[in-house]
Amino acid sequence: MSRKKISVVGAGNVGATTAQRLAEKDFCDVVLVDILEGMPQGKALDLMQSGPVYGYDSKVTGTNGYEETAGSDIIIITSGLPRKPGMSRDDLLKVNAGIVKDVTLKAIAKSPGAMIIVVSNPLDAMTYVAYKHSKFPAHKVMGMAGILDSARFRCFIAMELGVSVRDITAFVLGGHGDTMVPSTKYTTVAGIPVEDLIPKPKLDAIVERTRKGGGEIVALLKTGSAYYAPSAASVQMCESIILDKKMILPCAVLSQGKYEGCDGLFVGLPAKLGEGGVEEVVKFKLSAEESAALKQSAGAVKELCEAVDRLGF
Ligand code: NAI
Ligand code: 2OP
Repeated sequence: MSRKKISVVGAGNVGATTAQRLAEKDFCDVVLVDILEGMPQGKALDLMQSGPVYGYDSKVTGTNGYEETAGSDIIIITSGLPRKPGMSRDDLLKVNAGIVKDVTLKAIAKSPGAMIIVVSNPLDAMTYVAYKHSKFPAHKVMGMAGILDSARFRCFIAMELGVSVRDITAFVLGGHGDTMVPSTKYTTVAGIPVEDLIPKPKLDAIVERTRKGGGEIVALLKTGSAYYAPSAASVQMCESIILDKKMILPCAVLSQGKYEGCDGLFVGLPAKLGEGGVEEVVKFKLSAEESAALKQSAGAVKELCEAVDRLGF
């Protein structure tokens, strides 16, 4: 049986850390692609040399082209500019739409059977760009953001209660932007609704911190954005697909008939990921308030997608 292959386009902070985490998981070979000469090759060689110490046999290849990516099972797109201080995710739209279109076309030419996981921002709109230009069926195209946003929410709740992050289940839905919807109704601590454990004013503050979680890190790093948690989240999606785990994870997926106001858009919703890609968009019964917030968030995503179309991407 040949090993699975995952190609990561963009060998910057998120891409290289994703490649590292994938290699350490040891369930696939990894190809790292970037336009910078020597950089993906150097990082790949460094990762190969970590194998004997760490104990993995994943083969990691670095390249400036797409030959080596041929026959990939998954293509992860992280290429693009990261957000700088004072820059909104939406400011990135123009430049990153061009990059995502270009790499999607080049990558699928070599891997027509692959699934695509988009990471580049603005996430929901870039996932739409990859879908539009790949012409792949919707179950093969998805975006990573909800796992990251939910991880931030889980982390802040665990810090507040002094409990294990493992005990916390949370879903952040909607677009990956200021309108995202951390669902308190479906957030539990060892099965107990979080609303019973954290007083409302404190919980509201945690929700707000989650919404601004990416910006908080940008303000601290000053020269880039988060990559440890984003890479961990991307690898969890790959794991659920390659190992057919069928985990229910919040991902940017094409909404079709399950959530009001979201139809026809790639927006963060609970999705079952397995060997078939997005095997199901899972329907949660949201509170009236959450449902309205999701609709509003989907409206923000729609505006970005309309801008993508208007700009000719
Ligand atoms: P980075 O600047 O460290 O890496 C980006 C890499 O893309 C660079 O190495 C650059 O040379 C490469 N690149 C640019 N154009 C390319 C092309 N046409 N083909 C191949 N490679 C190309 O940035 P970082 O921190 O890795 O972030 C990458 C993207 O991911 C950004 O758009 C960022 O906003 C986004 N992001 C999204 C998250 C999410 O939750 N969806 C979380 C974190 C980052
Ligand atoms: C984040 O949320 C920048 O979207 C990225 O960290």
